[in-house]
Amino acid sequence: MAGVSLMLVRVVAVACVLAVGAVAQLSPTFYDGSCPSLQSIVRSGMTSAVQKEPRMGASILRLFFHDCFVNGCDASVLLDDSSTLTGEKNAAPNANSLRGYEVIDAIKSRVEAACPGTVSCADILALAARDGVNLLSGPTWAVPLGRRDARTASQAAANSNLPSPTSNAATLVSTFASKGLDSRDLVALSGAHTIGAARCASFRSRVYNDTNINAGFAARRRQICPAQGSDGNLAPLDALSSVKFDNGYFRNVVSQFGLLHSDQELFGAGGGVDSITAQYARNSGAFARDFVTAMIKMGNISPLTGSNGEVRANCRKPN
Ligand code: HEM
Ligand SMILES: *[C@@H]1O[C@H](CO)[C@@H](O)[C@H](O)[C@H]1NC(C)=O
Repeated sequence: MAGVSLMLVRVVAVACVLAVGAVAQLSPTFYDGSCPSLQSIVRSGMTSAVQKEPRMGASILRLFFHDCFVNGCDASVLLDDSSTLTGEKNAAPNANSLRGYEVIDAIKSRVEAACPGTVSCADILALAARDGVNLLSGPTWAVPLGRRDARTASQAAANSNLPSPTSNAATLVSTFASKGLDSRDLVALSGAHTIGAARCASFRSRVYNDTNINAGFAARRRQICPAQGSDGNLAPLDALSSVKFDNGYFRNVVSQFGLLHSDQELFGAGGGVDSITAQYARNSGAFARDFVTAMIKMGNISPLTGSNGEVRANCRKPN
């Protein structure tokens, strides 16, 4: 009797997991019938944005990360503040820092012209992030699609769910674990810092106070980042090649050239991830493969699918 009911519990549990999985299933061919020109529109929008400013590939990639970690990949990060909605753009990790919103707007209006009311802002962002990486010489992959857009945002969740540059390795591991991402995913996704830049405000304490930093590197960064003020001065996250998506980030980190405190936590800080960081520093192919796997996993965080959410007409406001 106990055995039978235990089995019944198992059958029901498996059925529930399958049901949830079926609802949440994204597919790379989702818009093949309804918007065949989607991928080429996104690609051409990203091509001109990156031609104008290579850093934009990085900025859009980060936008996607900050979307997915806050209540899932639902384009909540793109919503503007209004009288009825407090968005995520002014949350601490995002304010004066996240950028690229106009690039997504421009792509969205071309997609709306071609396929009105069909493609979510969340999916456009997922494709644009992939293209940004690839246009800066990174890998490419088929992006699972079929996400829908949130009608709301959460500034509180943006403040609490996004990792801080002062985090230690244990906190980074647990923040990613809470999103279903393991240590390999954490290290691979951190390799996104092979492109783009950080503000002085994000690396000041590292270059003045950390001891696990190359001394000459710290001195050079202090020259762009005074002890007080000039918070917005920029430095490349990868001192070797910040407009090329390669494994330079990991080669920096194993030599104590990590720009953020959180970057350097991935090697030599007792976080238990040193061997993964060292592997990516040696083997750019392993990094590229694991980055793709982890990007797809990150893109699968709690999507709205089916009839949940909506397809926004304007990425900045609910319909
Ligand atoms: C592991 C935890 C992470 C922390 C603590 C972190 C923190 C930061 C910080 C503080 C900046 C600089 C922001 C500024 O100063 O304005 C930054 C930039 C950036 N982050 Fe992360 N990040 C993390 C993971 C990720 C992930 C998973 C991705 C994407 C997959 C990502 C992509 C980027 C990119 C591309 C930039 C440069 C953006 C630009 O130049 O506009 N980061 N990150
Ligand atoms: C460095 O650490 C000291 C002592 O904790 C602190 O007072 C100071 O503000 C820190 N400097 C920076 C730039 O973070």
